[in-house]
Amino acid sequence: MRPIYCLVLVLFILSCTEKSTVPSYNTGINITPKPNSIQLLDGGFEFNKNSTIVLNTESARPIATLLNSKLITSNGLELPIIISKEPKDGSVFFELDSMSALPMEGYELNSNTNNITIKASTHRGLFYGAQTLLQLLPAEIESKHKANSPLTVPNVAISDAPSLKWRGMMLDVGRHFLSIEFIKKQLDVMAMYKLNKFHWHLTEDQGWRIEIKKYPELTAMGSTRIESNGTTHQGYYTQEEIKEVVAYAKERHIDVIPEIEMPGHALAAIAAFPELSCTEEHHTPRIIWGVEEHIFCAGKEGTFTFIENVLDEVIALFPYEYIHIGGDEAPKHQWEKCSLCQSRINSENLTSENELQGYFVRRVEDLLKSKNKKMIGWDEILEGGVSETASIMSWRGEEGGISAANKGNDVIMTPAKYTYLNFYQGDYKVLPIAFGSYISTETLYEYNPIPDAIHADKKEHILGAQCNLWTEYIYADSMAENQLYPRLLALAETTWTNAEQKDYNDFKRRLANQYVRLDGHAIDYFIPYPEGGSNHVAFTDSVALHFTTPLPVAKMVYTTDGSNPSIGSATYTDTLTFRASTELKIAAVLASNKMGPIRTINIEQQSLLPAHTVKNAQPGLKSKSAYGKFLTIKDLDQTNEWKNGTVDSIEQANTTLNWGHYIDENNFRAVQLTGYINLENDGVYYFSSDQEQVWIADKLIVDNNEEIKRHSRKDGAIALAKGKHPLKLLYFNNIYGGWASDWNTVELRYRHESDSVFHTVGAPMLSY
Ligand code: ACM
Ligand code: ZN
Repeated sequence: MRPIYCLVLVLFILSCTEKSTVPSYNTGINITPKPNSIQLLDGGFEFNKNSTIVLNTESARPIATLLNSKLITSNGLELPIIISKEPKDGSVFFELDSMSALPMEGYELNSNTNNITIKASTHRGLFYGAQTLLQLLPAEIESKHKANSPLTVPNVAISDAPSLKWRGMMLDVGRHFLSIEFIKKQLDVMAMYKLNKFHWHLTEDQGWRIEIKKYPELTAMGSTRIESNGTTHQGYYTQEEIKEVVAYAKERHIDVIPEIEMPGHALAAIAAFPELSCTEEHHTPRIIWGVEEHIFCAGKEGTFTFIENVLDEVIALFPYEYIHIGGDEAPKHQWEKCSLCQSRINSENLTSENELQGYFVRRVEDLLKSKNKKMIGWDEILEGGVSETASIMSWRGEEGGISAANKGNDVIMTPAKYTYLNFYQGDYKVLPIAFGSYISTETLYEYNPIPDAIHADKKEHILGAQCNLWTEYIYADSMAENQLYPRLLALAETTWTNAEQKDYNDFKRRLANQYVRLDGHAIDYFIPYPEGGSNHVAFTDSVALHFTTPLPVAKMVYTTDGSNPSIGSATYTDTLTFRASTELKIAAVLASNKMGPIRTINIEQQSLLPAHTVKNAQPGLKSKSAYGKFLTIKDLDQTNEWKNGTVDSIEQANTTLNWGHYIDENNFRAVQLTGYINLENDGVYYFSSDQEQVWIADKLIVDNNEEIKRHSRKDGAIALAKGKHPLKLLYFNNIYGGWASDWNTVELRYRHESDSVFHTVGAPMLSY
């Protein structure tokens, strides 16, 4: 931050904080993404009933209507809209000047005590100027209820334009369908943060979500799947609904880019038309996550006819220059075995199945070009050789994007390790299920979409960056919003604000204000749980617990009497020490006094359980197994046909099927293992497992019943004397929430209280 800006900002914050009526989150300048040039001046402009909105062109009326709608809803103030070439005293003047040198998406905003002028060379620029004006007003301007916060705009001179032209967000509606109401809500928020590309991932193995009039079977059969627990998941968008979303996005200056996946991630289409695959086997849309090996056959002309017919209807719905054709994760096993695919390889003088994908993609690109569309594909399409005109979405890392840009292809950076919002944003031990990797808001904020390895003269081939939300574990709209926000705001700043202007500490400060704006849109953004330790803690004498949050919060509050904390409860300041069994409830509180979700920690005083004397202990475990569809513990009542046996190790509870194949329902079963664990020291032991249940010393220690068997949050603790203790582990081979437990290595992990890392239980014993 430049010193002059810093000084004025401090003075402005001080002057605001003097007025006790201004909540802390409304002090200072909170515009996000941060403008590229801002000068703070003395004084401010006050909206009142004599204020007006002046437009130099009738065509800017939607912007005036937007501003008015916010003023009316939050403050009951409706301003007259006047068309005039000149500003007036007390006016907000929107000046569209297509002859000005302002960049396409740029704007200038000047406010003084008399009036505010927003100037741009395009409607989009004016719209962004209006968004900045809203962000200069108190956060309650976004409220859907009367808030009556004072409508003061500090005097500023802003000159702003984005650093990158692609500032995107992708939603996968294939794994879990998201309603158009949900999507419109996100478009509203994207517009607030000057994001301009909505990438709509419309087709998947698990669901085909776009009506194609020529092929009604695609949605009749491809948009519905019966989950393993018997429930139905379904949904698709009619063409009318798609038009509605595209129009809604256009009003917010957001382009919509449809993605139709090919040749892989196409099982929902193959479910409707088995002849599109190599084997022509009948399938349903996939009911498990992961990568499907049945893909479109590249040997059949019918596949390309189908694709052309589908794309014709898609192109008619989406007026923008790009169509995304997927291209990622296309296993080639079926192509290797298919005589038609092999004939194509021969007739086209190709050398491999990868080159066959290259042929497929180039053929589709030619088709799109003939219809005046540009093609985008995931970076796998580079492997088969792409044309100079294909645009690449680099997701497996930055390498694909770097090499493509250096060759002159346009690139959108979406490297998973920086931009995938399906990953955790805090401690997986306390958060709802997500993909097992971690992307903090800071990681995303600090991401530089133009890596140094891009040649100086090729930098313009990096169009921008995008966050992707894959929805395997998005079982509710609130989970999607939790994953999206506030990280999407970091992407907005990463793609809009020049690197020299970025400042993560200042971004974190501004978040307090942005949360209130998101509240105005009823966005269920992520408020961290206090993190540290597990939710079940045991101790013999005393235990000290320490908490942190992965994003700043105003405070953490807690109770120890079993009641739910409120904002007035005891404030956590430092490590808490417990000497008696306690139920601790703790939650974070934001500057707006909004409380996050409550974390409950069961803290239990225990005595060391004595070890067992085990006669004839042998390596291994006793097993008891029964075939059947066991989804939850209560389903165990279904059977008494148990088969007894022994196994050498816990891992053997599972017979691994091949990755990518259908999980075989005939193989579903329950396996119970019993034996002894031998411990070397006295003390509290923590156990962790992704299996159904773990019992130690006849106590239920890990209980994942009715949970997805991934990244368990159900670690348990027990105080044990050195020596042997009974162990029981229950494993279900099933599908729960789309996750096939067969993908797990059956395991049990443990750690002594003095150890910070878990170890795999290696060689339990059995006794005779
Ligand atoms: C992807 O994440 N498979 C593009
Ligand atoms: Zn084939």
